[in-house]
Amino acid sequence: MTPSIFAPVSTPAFAIRDVAFFVLGITAVIFLVVAGVAVFALVRFRRRRGDDGREPPQVYGSQQIELAWTLVPLLIVVVLFLVTARYIYAIERRPQPPEALEVTIVGHQWWWEIRYPKLGIVTANEIHVPESDPANPTPTFITLESADVIHSFWIPQLAGKMDVIPNKTNRVWIDPQRTGTYVGQCAEYCGLQHAGMRLAVTVHTRDDFGRWAAEQQAHARDDVEAREGRELFSSLACINCHTVRGTTANGVFGPDLTHLMSRSTIGAGVAPNTPKTLRAWVADPASLKPGALMPAMKLSRDDLDKVTAYLSTLR
Ligand code: CUA
Repeated sequence: MTPSIFAPVSTPAFAIRDVAFFVLGITAVIFLVVAGVAVFALVRFRRRRGDDGREPPQVYGSQQIELAWTLVPLLIVVVLFLVTARYIYAIERRPQPPEALEVTIVGHQWWWEIRYPKLGIVTANEIHVPESDPANPTPTFITLESADVIHSFWIPQLAGKMDVIPNKTNRVWIDPQRTGTYVGQCAEYCGLQHAGMRLAVTVHTRDDFGRWAAEQQAHARDDVEAREGRELFSSLACINCHTVRGTTANGVFGPDLTHLMSRSTIGAGVAPNTPKTLRAWVADPASLKPGALMPAMKLSRDDLDKVTAYLSTLR
């Protein structure tokens, strides 16, 4: 999907499109007036044959003209300000209804931690929410926090940008009215991999969302065939940073891997999530995402295969 503010599917994004068209409309009228007068003057007062070369009468200090070109722009700016303020106020003042889904998103260099505190789900970079029927809305209220520097949460088709600031909690809500996947991007420069800090929101029907949530709530799979890899994983530094629920891995510095393979990308959108890219990532994350804070694990080829085989079972 094209992340365009002109293809909104959620109330805050509808408001942004409305205001954008309103501003574009006013500026289009200004452009037509200015360009029209300029073209008229160019044609009407162009140099003609037999021109005597004298200047036309010059006007200085006309109070009417000075007042007109001060007051008209001032009025336009006041109207733009009031209309925008009204929309912002209406969106920010919307109270959280009891049926709202609560999600906490924590910005990290350079990925998004996603928590559903009431559902006991932790994932990364790919947010899943239910569709919100305007007649019977189930909006998602998002709490934004940062683990390090300032990021900005932005999914153009769902809502406006909202800064993600250390030691400050910001809020944003969405009520997507059409199923689908909507992509977004960190919108505040936050270091080397700012551009590699993508995110996506997948909007499900309510039933599908319930199924997704149930799968995410389960503990990690314990595949017998990947046991060797699992033991190896548990003996490595991986577990200091990553959690795999149901195992000894309970680090919180990096993304939760309990259902790693349910995500379509790795490295916050820098590569598709396949066993091949996963193996390259474990071998050396910088090969896919230069600057990534996860170190190269320096594993032998054999160990790499085992760890990748294990991770690939975490559906
Ligand atoms: Cu995070 Cu830019």
